[in-house]
Order: sequence, then structure tokens, then C-alpha cells
Amino acid sequence: MSEVRHFKVASGRSNIALAKKVVEHQGIHLSEVTIRNFSDGEIWVKYEENIRGVDLFLIQSTNAPADNLLELLILIDAAKRASVRRVTAVIPYFGYARQDRKDQPRVSVTAKLEANLLTRAGADRIITIDLHSSQIQGFFDIPLDHLYASPVLLKALKMLNLETIAIAAPDVGGVKTARSYAKRMDAELILVDKRRPTHNVAEIMNIIGSPKDKNIIVVDDLIDTGTTFVKCAEALMDGGAKKIIGLCVHPVFSGEALDKIEKSKAIEKIFVTDTIPLHRESKKIEVISVAELLSEAIFRTHDNRSISSLFEIER
Ligand code: R5P
Repeated sequence: MSEVRHFKVASGRSNIALAKKVVEHQGIHLSEVTIRNFSDGEIWVKYEENIRGVDLFLIQSTNAPADNLLELLILIDAAKRASVRRVTAVIPYFGYARQDRKDQPRVSVTAKLEANLLTRAGADRIITIDLHSSQIQGFFDIPLDHLYASPVLLKALKMLNLETIAIAAPDVGGVKTARSYAKRMDAELILVDKRRPTHNVAEIMNIIGSPKDKNIIVVDDLIDTGTTFVKCAEALMDGGAKKIIGLCVHPVFSGEALDKIEKSKAIEKIFVTDTIPLHRESKKIEVISVAELLSEAIFRTHDNRSISSLFEIER
């Protein structure tokens, strides 16, 4: 007799395309939920099927607008009031994560605030991908599974069969991630020393390492305005790099980011994932789906199986 799993997957409206792909991999349908807005924007949700006693997985990225986060909180609240057994918030992109410490007086730590809100709303556990900083896990007192998109991005990169590769971190905060990619690719590590005089402005101070005659893979957790990425690519090209390819998990792409990337002669191509839907297609951007990764993480969470073995990389 084939195994019957008693879990359901529902989704908010931030990334329906990804949620549909996740359940396609699982051979099930998304649970039916009606989500509407009153004329002033207030969000209203209703589960259209019985979820009493169910192990429920709710997929919703918390990218802007903040309504995405609020919608997730309301979905969790409605699920708890409908007597689910357990609710797991599956947050492919955990927004508001860049404010993860009190680095100046009188500022908020929004990553902690979001953790508090999710827990208070009734989330029993969290599944997320490439947090802006891994210590955000500690902001939760409920279990959190931190997934990495690196296996799917590296698989796509390997298809390019590039030689003489170096991996670049676009700032000091990205060194740990870049080092782990460099180790897996047997490649040299380059550090681009970026400073931020103010929000959304980036200045490149220095390049540590040698980009000359190399195909450089710039890895970053997110691209927002695109300033960091474009400046970093230009500095590496000025340093003699042959080609710049990007690997970026979360395509936030606010404002003119896509135009900036398209106009930049230094950037050949950027692989991103579908944790956030793109506003439009671009010839320089290739989207690699994390749907299978999430689908497997949901299966394993439901079955109480190991999640860490998902990150064993093929070399
Ligand atoms: C910084 O810590 C992040 O990893 C990204 O490099 C940064 O947030 C990207 O922002 P933008 O695209 O606006 O330069």
C-alpha cells in the first residue's frame, strides 16, 4: 500500500507561481483559501476546506509590500482558529532581515520583530531559504529550518562549463557564503571591499585578490537596487576579469535594478531563484526554481526526516 501523508499546503498571494510548483512536485493541489481585500485594503482570508488536525504548510515570501507579511500572519491566525495540528510558515524570502542588529541608536531590529510577530500569531515552525544573516535563526524560539539555494544555483552554473573561475564576495558580510562556494568549486576567493555611506548607495574601496583573466562568479544573497552588483562587476572588470556571472538567491530588484543590470556592460548573466517573482523578464536574468527543494523540505519536515542531507553537493 502506498504511503498516505496527512499534510496540506496553502499559499498567500506573494508568490503563487512558486507555491503551485511546490505542490506539483508533491503531486497534490494547493488547499483552497479565499483571500480578499476590503476597499480600504484590509485583508480577509478564509480556508475553504476542513483543516482541523492537519499538518499545514503555508507558503508566503515576506518581500515588500509589508501586506505580504500581514497576510501571512492573518493566514496563520485563521489556521490556528480552525484547529490545525501544526502550522509551518514556509517563507522562501524572509524580508525585513537586513535590520538584524541595533547598529545605531534609536533603530528597530525588524528581523527580531518579524520573528516575534510570526511566533505570536501561532507559527509552530519556520522553513526559510538563505537568511540575510544566519544568526536570525536565533531570534526564533520555535524550530527553524534554514535551507540553502546553493545546490540549485551551483548546478545551473556548472552547465556553463566555465574555466579559470574565481568566486567573489561583493562585501565583507558575504565572505562566509562566498568562501563556501569557492571551496565547493575549488576556486580562488576574491573580496570586494564595499562601503555604504548611506542607504542604497555603494562605494567600492578595494579588491582583495586577483580578478585578472578570470571568469568571476559574484555571489550574493539578494539584489535590491542593483547598485552593489553593478559596481562590484565594474570594479572586477577594471581589474582585468574576463567575464562576470552572478549567483543571487533573492531577486528583490526594486526600482530601476533590472534596467541597471541590463545596461551594465560588465555583467554577462545573473542566475537568481524564484523566491520572489520577477516583475518582468530580462535577457540577463535566468531564474532557477527552488520549488523542488521546498517540496522535499516539506516532505521531510512532515515525516520527521533530516533536512541537512538536502545540502550534499554533487561535485
Ligand atoms: C548586503 O549585505 C546584501 O547582501 C546585498 O549586497 C545588498 O543588500 C544589495 O543591495 P543593493 O542591490 O541595493 O546594492
